[in-house]
Amino acid sequence: MDNNKQPQLNSAYYGPTIPPTEQPHQHSHRRRGCCCCLLNILWITLVSIIILVALAILIFYLIVQPRPFKFTVTEAKLTEFNYKNNTLRYNLVLNFTVRNPNKKLEILYDKAEGQAFYEGTRFNTTGVNTWFNSFRQYTTTTNRTSGVFTGQQLMVLDRDQLSHFEENKRSGIFDIDVKIHFTIRFSLNKFIPGDMKAKAKCELKVPLSSSNGSTVAAFKLTKCDVSY
Ligand SMILES: *[C@@H]1O[C@H](CO)[C@@H](O)[C@H](O)[C@H]1NC(C)=O
Ligand SMILES: *[C@@H]1O[C@H](CO)[C@@H](O)[C@H](O)[C@H]1NC(C)=O
Ligand SMILES: *[C@@H]1O[C@H](CO)[C@@H](O)[C@H](O)[C@H]1NC(C)=O
Ligand SMILES: *[C@@H]1O[C@H](CO)[C@@H](O)[C@H](O)[C@H]1NC(C)=O
Ligand SMILES: *[C@@H]1O[C@H](CO)[C@@H](O)[C@H](O)[C@H]1NC(C)=O
Repeated sequence: MDNNKQPQLNSAYYGPTIPPTEQPHQHSHRRRGCCCCLLNILWITLVSIIILVALAILIFYLIVQPRPFKFTVTEAKLTEFNYKNNTLRYNLVLNFTVRNPNKKLEILYDKAEGQAFYEGTRFNTTGVNTWFNSFRQYTTTTNRTSGVFTGQQLMVLDRDQLSHFEENKRSGIFDIDVKIHFTIRFSLNKFIPGDMKAKAKCELKVPLSSSNGSTVAAFKLTKCDVSY
């Protein structure tokens, strides 16, 4: 059926009986060619722009080399960590170091807020030392700050969690997670692009200090995971 139709169509187009059809046909052919070359130019321009932008970003990264800051817990002092009657009483003081490893970028810490967790339950939120809020950290420097978590928290531990707590209590070392939420900005000389959220996650093993200040072991310096 199709084979029969096509020759008919062809003969209608190229048939010598209708000469005017040839001219419009040629015309549309030329126009389509022009369209094609316009499209080609557009396409080439677009690809060039994309390549240029990619190159610019690459060069920017190579020159600036933005790297996340480093966050470390250098000292942890736990003077109280008691779970009784579904209530956790705690007193934890942490010392941190914050390092900006960037050679070109300064970091502005607009806000830093710490949360402490035991067995997946948050037991306190604290502002990491207030001077650290709206703090400008220069390139390749390290600064110190600290956070205090103290108070009491209603908390219901299930049987597994309770046995983990008893185990921690026996060993004198508690598994406490701390998360610090930051709002930061990078600064390249005066140029400051938008805000950024960053998070440091620290999985700590904190020895409890007895009343005379002795602990079963010294606290081991702990590096935190920093992510954006
Ligand atoms: C435990 O808590 C309840 C209220 O939640 C209170 O009535 C009771 O006295 C508490 N027990 C102890 C030993 O603190
Ligand atoms: C921890 O911080 C406190 C106050 O910020 C300071 O007095 C103490 O010396 C620090 N400890 C260490 C080991 O850096
Ligand atoms: C941060 O560290 C730099 C370099 O060590 C120091 O000059 C600056 O005073 C520190 N800032 C604070 C607030 O401690
Ligand atoms: C958290 O710690 C602060 C002191 O930094 C204390 O005043 C507050 O009561 C604590 N919050 C809770 C829920 O225990
Ligand atoms: C005080 O510390 C010593 C170790 O330095 C320890 O043997 C002793 O049990 C501690 N005393 C109390 C009351 O915790």
